[in-house]
Amino acid sequence: MAQSELNVQSLDAAAVLAALRSLRDRQPVKFAAFYSSQLGGIVTDPALMVLPFDDHMVHRGHGIFDTAALVGGRIYDLEAHLDRFFGSAERSRLKMPGARAALRDIIVHTAAVSRLRDGAIRYWLSSGPGSFDLVPAAGAEPGFFVMVFGGLSYPTRWYTDGLRVMTTTYPIKPPLYAITKATNYLPNVLMQMEAKAAGLDNGVFIDDAGNIGESSNMNLAFVTRDGVLRHPKFEHVLPGCTSLRLLDLARSTVGHGVLTGVEVCDIPVAEGRAAREMLLLGSSIKVAPIVEWDGRPIGDGKPGPAARALLQLLEQDMRSGDRLIDVPRL
Ligand SMILES: Cc1ncc(COP(=O)(O)O)c(C=O)c1O
Repeated sequence: MAQSELNVQSLDAAAVLAALRSLRDRQPVKFAAFYSSQLGGIVTDPALMVLPFDDHMVHRGHGIFDTAALVGGRIYDLEAHLDRFFGSAERSRLKMPGARAALRDIIVHTAAVSRLRDGAIRYWLSSGPGSFDLVPAAGAEPGFFVMVFGGLSYPTRWYTDGLRVMTTTYPIKPPLYAITKATNYLPNVLMQMEAKAAGLDNGVFIDDAGNIGESSNMNLAFVTRDGVLRHPKFEHVLPGCTSLRLLDLARSTVGHGVLTGVEVCDIPVAEGRAAREMLLLGSSIKVAPIVEWDGRPIGDGKPGPAARALLQLLEQDMRSGDRLIDVPRL
């Protein structure tokens, strides 16, 4: 038998640290600050932003997360994101490691330590380490983690020219999993990869009844030919904080803007295809127009006025609304 060229070393702590640093050298990342309840503090060196492999969030997906935007040194709509985080935790039978106010303080403090003024704050709750079983290990302490980074960025062309999407071939998550922001994003990942492989920008989930669901990490909404903003019901898609806020803001513009009404209802595929505008909504994308779905134009195939008006409404709220928490400068 040929001699193996396998050269796998046993590493001591110093070698592990060096290897973690070298990994980040090979693939640089700009993660500004990371809080870990397991470490009991915050690190700013990305090489140290790690989890134990036996954490059940890693090997069983028993964890949840949420993301809030950092805008001009303030966190936008954190309470809404925390409401959803607590709802996801309850449905996932995850224990909270502390009171809501304490978690909020950790999030704000980690953002302060990051020194970033614009970006994203993503935080996770895990059932903790201690075994490779399914149920949490005996005595497992829940893990709470906060990452502050630059956020996801999307091409400018998405806003100027609009996106092109396809109906995904992957099945939508059943309602319980769709409304819970768990770390199980396999369908979401696959639908986006499928769309990119087809030369498109993203996918659209359709439910078993033939109604429109959502996209990979964004909600979908439509503007009918007579100007009504329509959003799918929130029972089978993630209740997007952006969608919920924007629907409220949009209601106050009805009659004196581009919209003539706002509805949350089932939207059959045929009705979506006949819309004047189709929109993507989310904390990272904000509001972006979809101009083509499954090779067919939406409306006149160009970004429309409602997309522009809603983006403006949201950006105004993100900069100067009443849902902002100041991040202190350290
Ligand atoms: C599956 C899914 N749908 C919708 C959204 C939009 O939610 P939000 O507006 O809270 O970012 C997200 C992003 O968190 C998501 O992951």
